[in-house]
Amino acid sequence: MKNIDSRGHVTGRSVYVDDIPELSGTLHAVPVFSSRAHAKILNVNFSKVWEAEGIVDILSATDIPGENQIGGIIPDEPLFAEDEVHFIGQPIALIIAHDHFTAREARKFVEIEYEDLEIITDPRIAKERGYLLFPSRTFVNGNIEKGFAKSDTVIEGRADSAGQEHLYIETQGSYAIPLENNNIKIYSSTQGPTLVQKTAAVVLGIPMHNIEVDVTRLGGAFGGKEDQATAWAVMAALAVYKLKKPVKLILDRDDDMLLTGKRHPYSSDFRIGIDKNLKIKSFELTYYQNGGAAADLSPAIMERTLFHATNSYFIPNVKATAYSCRTNITPSTAFRGFGAPQAMFVIESAIALAAEKLGVDKSEIQECNLLKSGDLFHYGQVCDSDNSKKSWSDLHEHFDVDTIKKSVNSYNKQNTFHKKGISVMPICFGISFTKTPMNQARALVHVYQDGSIGISTGAVEMGQGVNTKMMQVAARMFSVDISRVKIESTNTTRVANTSPTAASSGADLNGKALQIACNEILIRLKSKAAEFLETNVDEIIIRDEKVLIEKIPTELNWKKLVEIAFLDRVKLSEVGHYATPIIHFDKTTEKGHPFTYHVYGTALTTIKLDCIKGTYDIERVRIVHDFGKSMNLTLDKGQVEGAVVRGIGWMTIEELGYDEKGRLLADNLSKYKVPDVYMAPKKIETEPLETEGPELAIMKSKAIGEPPFMYGIGAYFAIQDAIKEFNPDYKLKFDAPLTPEKVLLGLYNNSK
Ligand code: MOS
Repeated sequence: MKNIDSRGHVTGRSVYVDDIPELSGTLHAVPVFSSRAHAKILNVNFSKVWEAEGIVDILSATDIPGENQIGGIIPDEPLFAEDEVHFIGQPIALIIAHDHFTAREARKFVEIEYEDLEIITDPRIAKERGYLLFPSRTFVNGNIEKGFAKSDTVIEGRADSAGQEHLYIETQGSYAIPLENNNIKIYSSTQGPTLVQKTAAVVLGIPMHNIEVDVTRLGGAFGGKEDQATAWAVMAALAVYKLKKPVKLILDRDDDMLLTGKRHPYSSDFRIGIDKNLKIKSFELTYYQNGGAAADLSPAIMERTLFHATNSYFIPNVKATAYSCRTNITPSTAFRGFGAPQAMFVIESAIALAAEKLGVDKSEIQECNLLKSGDLFHYGQVCDSDNSKKSWSDLHEHFDVDTIKKSVNSYNKQNTFHKKGISVMPICFGISFTKTPMNQARALVHVYQDGSIGISTGAVEMGQGVNTKMMQVAARMFSVDISRVKIESTNTTRVANTSPTAASSGADLNGKALQIACNEILIRLKSKAAEFLETNVDEIIIRDEKVLIEKIPTELNWKKLVEIAFLDRVKLSEVGHYATPIIHFDKTTEKGHPFTYHVYGTALTTIKLDCIKGTYDIERVRIVHDFGKSMNLTLDKGQVEGAVVRGIGWMTIEELGYDEKGRLLADNLSKYKVPDVYMAPKKIETEPLETEGPELAIMKSKAIGEPPFMYGIGAYFAIQDAIKEFNPDYKLKFDAPLTPEKVLLGLYNNSK
């Protein structure tokens, strides 16, 4: 089954926030933001703004009736800055006008006097000064010093990975409208409708029930709209509260790039100990997470980094410490992988450095340390499958990796100015929100008297196809044609207290809640059928819209059964509630069972390097991926392909950069490069790992959103592999992204 939105997307009929027909009298808002990365605000003067025609209002902190606070986890982020600004792009006020361009033009006339303060963008410097967003955490297992003592080789190094712009095609935005009795309805492009509702209630000082948030779909999010959609929705709601008029706030692309947070840059130190059999005995880490100017989701992201310190490998002695450093860049936020890619880049760097030192192939070290069933993760959970090893060996067999390696070698012998590089990248990603209470969801199901079905869940469609999966779940549960099922928008009045659609868990959590609701209705329908057909309820089966008794069709079908049930006043609506079992985590010991299950896989990346220009082609990515038992392989493979390309972009050409004033350098699309169709691998082949699939995944179909992102890390090491072929004196460096510029320097610079 294809994504139900495919047709709407390609014909341009799909509706996003900015496509919602505007009510008459709709006003338009544009944020005023700081042009300084760290400064005291001495004075703000709006008098020249008021001179412009069409200005309706200007709102700032003093107009907030409730709390000037939007911090989701830690209350450290004002909606509008008051006395100080902490990053370029921090909102200070909101200009509301009759149209967008008037508001945007008028922004030029705001006069702000600043007194500059010291600007820090480097997380290591922030840490030295003691500027942490919250206390550090350390995960320990075994005893690293004993582990290093047992190691034959101990190597230290440093790895840096940069931020990444989400570049969702639909920019951040919201449209808020006043309802009667001072209620407000907000259409928001958010992954977290409840977070928007809750925060708007706090800022406006009113109960949550006065705010309704509705989401039809997002034009991409990638984590960028998990927390950071909230500010724009709350600002629009504040304007509605004050003006009693509909207010729209859609960020222009340049504002979106400057004002919103990105993937966390990390700088990390590692020490790895390996014995003569290439077994990793000990691993020590210090992560410096660049959290930006406010905590946002950094505590959760830092936690996921710590969980993924060892990627797919079993390491008996681990000590990992992470600091979330407060700097003067936009608050860093969720981005596909949520801190895990940063951790996995570090361990892959450590292994690569060890391999260089030992003169062995990196893949030899990787292979002999892969997780197997019964191994203990450093956070106390036991690995429950051999899928890591299995995906590795399946990849090697299925794609005949030995032959590929030979052909790469012979290519490199025959060519002087073009070199090929190769890299194997295993992944292991834990599924669940690491904050256990977030692992719950609800769904609302109506069976209408004509046999059609309406479903609502807390899941947000952002292009990943979760709505399609939800419809599949309902259709399968009732065994009816999918055309009977309609999915409604995600709305806080129909499904309350939702967790954001994030952590790759949207389909699992909401699908399970949906199954529960469908099942309740199904039980009632079956008992009604049994009564009507004068038989035992256990005999009744509903299949393909037919009611069967011992596999023999009866006079009843789905439509007729629903009609009978309705006339007999049977309850045809239900709310399902699901809370993931088995998971728990104790933060005092940093041990527990935080993940419902893990997703595994292995990828082989081959690249071709132009050694004159420093440019590279990502030729092929071959993958064996653990889908479980995929309920929609078309969608799931699409998620793998998209994730791989984003991962490659992060590792290779996506470069943000900040100057000494704390200003983002790549602040528009002529400066910020992302992979396009020419840059993307010529071919991505994804083979499903043959495996059962866990009961706790929706219909045994494993979570798909984030895990494949990390296959992209393979590109980094494949490129370095090719550089070394050309320049044997090249010393490995771990400083992503590996742009063509850095590659060129590596090709011709023989010094260390
Ligand atoms: Mo996702 S990065 O967990 O919003």
